[in-house]
Amino acid sequence: MSRNSHEKTLAALGVTQAEQVAPLFAHLLSQANADLNAANSAETFEKFRVHWFGRKAGVVTLVGDNWLKPAVRELKPAVGQELNKFKAQLEARMEARRAAIESGAEQAVSAKDRVELSLPGVLRPIGSRHLIRQVFQEIEDIFVSIGFSVVEGPEIETPYYNFEALNIPEFHPVRDDMDTFYVEAANESGSQTPPGSLLLRTHTSPVQIRTMERQKPPVRVIVPGKVYRRDNPDATHSFMFHQIEGLAVDTDITFCDFTGTIEYFVKQYFGPSVKTRFRPSYFPFTEPSVEFDVSCIFCGGSGAAANGTTCGKCKGSEWIELFGAGMVDPAVYGFVNYDAKKLSGFAFGMGMDRLAMLKYGIDDIQAFFQNDVRFLKQFP
Ligand code: FA5
Repeated sequence: MSRNSHEKTLAALGVTQAEQVAPLFAHLLSQANADLNAANSAETFEKFRVHWFGRKAGVVTLVGDNWLKPAVRELKPAVGQELNKFKAQLEARMEARRAAIESGAEQAVSAKDRVELSLPGVLRPIGSRHLIRQVFQEIEDIFVSIGFSVVEGPEIETPYYNFEALNIPEFHPVRDDMDTFYVEAANESGSQTPPGSLLLRTHTSPVQIRTMERQKPPVRVIVPGKVYRRDNPDATHSFMFHQIEGLAVDTDITFCDFTGTIEYFVKQYFGPSVKTRFRPSYFPFTEPSVEFDVSCIFCGGSGAAANGTTCGKCKGSEWIELFGAGMVDPAVYGFVNYDAKKLSGFAFGMGMDRLAMLKYGIDDIQAFFQNDVRFLKQFP
């Protein structure tokens, strides 16, 4: 029987007896099965569906039009029954085929996306703490071992804490050395702070005041943190750098305690062979004030480089300036309600970046802030 028998009527096909109807549908079903088996993708399955079940010109529609409708009365029941059976069988097979095609497609997709667990993973390099952070830790450990504790304070300060309470009144010339960045911010009620009422702190010394306001003597604290100045960047200056403040106040603290503490720290940090010296200096919040120097770490305090020329680091002076310090000026105690007659103490403020540069032989402070991995990797 030809493939297009459904386009002819039963009469044209020579079907006159009811017994001839079932074989006719059996043949049609075997054709449909063959077509369905060949449909192995979503596209070919759709072509199959349109060919057999298309509403206008699909085989099932044409069988209804050409076989059932014009069939003679004696044949009609058999044709109707066989057509329903044929449709039910083919639809069931189609459903099974559709599911097989879809799960096959899913398998193909999941095979593509499958994670290969036996492949070696992506190795991410482990980071390390920045050298500045490492040196902070080193210095904190030294001071904590002799009874100091670590406190912190805000980087955005008021002029009162940054200057006035440290005995630096408005228009004092020392403010010129600490030219800074003033900021405007919204206060708690949402309104803008008046110009000049907030600044980025120029040193960690304001935390001296905040600590003494908060606690009664004895006080022994160090204060690590970031500070800001309107300094032009060069090999030893940055507009943002780091300091460690120190403050010790008690009833019996002398200049000897002060020098002993500083010398202990310097020998712990740089090694026992380093020499130290004080020079008179001036800070409005310490009296007397000193600059503290160490013998040049690079030339061993000789002033001469290895090749006999002048040492480029200390410029032949044999000493390197380390930091400012002094005995707390009694005027400062007045701002925090401490009894200046009973108390004494010392304070110091070290430039952390320069301390790190000296110890680790770094000749440009900017290297700390450039995030160059080649530099950072040298200090794992
Ligand atoms: C002060 O900041 C005082 N508050 C220190 C002090 C504290 C004195 C307590 C007495 C008692 P000075 O301005 O000298 O002092 O700065 C301290 C250190 O910060 C300097 O010795 C230097 O190492 C470092 N420093 C200053 N300016 C810069 C800068 N622009 N870049 C990097 N380091 C700096």
